[in-house]
Amino acid sequence: MIKKNISIAIDGPSASGKSTIAKILAEKLNFIYIDTGAMYRAFTLGCINNGIDCTNEEECCKLIGKIMIGFNEKNHVTLNGIDVEKEIRGNKVADNVSYIASYKDIRLELVNQQRLLAQNNDVVMDGRDIGTYVLQDADVKFFQIADVEERAKRRYKENLEKGIETSYEECLENLKKRDYIDSHREFCPLRPAKDSIEINTTNLGINEVSDMLIALLKSKGIERR
Ligand code: CDP
Repeated sequence: MIKKNISIAIDGPSASGKSTIAKILAEKLNFIYIDTGAMYRAFTLGCINNGIDCTNEEECCKLIGKIMIGFNEKNHVTLNGIDVEKEIRGNKVADNVSYIASYKDIRLELVNQQRLLAQNNDVVMDGRDIGTYVLQDADVKFFQIADVEERAKRRYKENLEKGIETSYEECLENLKKRDYIDSHREFCPLRPAKDSIEINTTNLGINEVSDMLIALLKSKGIERR
């Protein structure tokens, strides 16, 4: 019997811990992890590298079809075949990515790729619109949240570990700005899918969250493949 591919959607605001949890789930279940935020970040880097003002929708959209976004064998995001996983985490990209992600034509282009990946693999996909738009038929949808101050603390710590220079205040401001743009854009704004399960991680550690989700998935018959 042919096994149907399984997809798990994890949405939520910036730095709510989606990617950490998604990676753990993908590893435990032997699924592929797809970081859709990294794709928007790589597109943003492409605009910056081409000297384009990211608030200029028309100019940014001209790059569709001219720059190629993908993932390599390390599951790192690539821009025109070059591994840019580290570069996309910097402040310049973080400051501009939500503009790029609000442009419909760019979203449609990247969503196409995301859907293709989910057609051909068992996936854990994280983002803002996975449960509401990209994979509306996902087998399970999580909506992961945390207080903005807690998220800023996590992002600050993460940046320190990665050698990216920021202050806690800068992280907090950036998250607030992105939360606002992401949830107020016209096309595919950040919001929970009606059938999503909300997970508040403010007071929970990584293991507590991942154990909880694994147990939830198991109760729905989703286990390692
Ligand atoms: O890692 P972090 O939570 O900071 O954000 P990310 O997942 O890397 O996403 C970066 C940005 O891309 C978000 O702030 C959104 O503007 C955008 N994004 C989106 O619009 N839709 C997605 N499916 C994923 C990301």
